[in-house]
Amino acid sequence: MATRSTKVAKAAKGDKGDKTAPARDDARRARNAELGRLLSSLPCPQALLCVQTGEETDVAAVTAMWVSYDPVIVAVYLHPGMRTHQLVNQGRHFTINVVDEAQNAKALLAGSIKGKDPGKLEKLALKFEPSESIGSPRVAGAAASYECRVLKVAACGDHDLFLGLVTGWSVRKGGKPVVRYGGKSHAIGTALEGPAVKYPH
Ligand SMILES: Cc1cc2nc3c(=O)[nH]c(=O)nc-3n(C[C@H](O)[C@H](O)[C@H](O)COP(=O)(O)O)c2cc1C
Repeated sequence: MATRSTKVAKAAKGDKGDKTAPARDDARRARNAELGRLLSSLPCPQALLCVQTGEETDVAAVTAMWVSYDPVIVAVYLHPGMRTHQLVNQGRHFTINVVDEAQNAKALLAGSIKGKDPGKLEKLALKFEPSESIGSPRVAGAAASYECRVLKVAACGDHDLFLGLVTGWSVRKGGKPVVRYGGKSHAIGTALEGPAVKYPH
């Protein structure tokens, strides 16, 4: 059996022992590309999750959805490696801020800076404003903000599902929400003609 040190030594010498490794890498890349095509075909609202726990504040780009009408409950799915995941687990509250078109570049930057980076908030140059019902702030200028208390956390495949009970909110008049689709951020298009249908019925 190879010990850790023999594996490290083989890797350092560029060991060609495992001839199946390149084929496995190709297969993994192809599967990831296929899953990327599949999941980016499901349009989702693009949001900024903001969490403050003690002295720590962090922001990440996320996609979100609502799951209950009354009470209002929203869902986000966070990768366990994320710093925001860790902070939300500790503090048990967060805000979901629907990205406005004017904030898209900052939102994408927030989605590319992972882990503890003391300069992250400065780089993002977002403005925050206090929430009414929880300690995590809202992102100013968002198309809509939802103040959430963690109701449930469930392990779901490679992400954890966080259900947030919405205890405060604001919707900005004239806001222009961004939608994520096909691996890109989109402005919302023209409303289609059709019969008026109310939901819930
Ligand atoms: C448009 C967009 C949407 C994203 N949605 C999610 C998501 O729903 N869940 C997730 O875990 N990561 C998502 N990410 C990735 C995180 O935003 C990214 O890993 C972030 O840097 C994590 O920061 P943190 O380590 O400070 O929490 C998304 C990234 C982008 C650009």
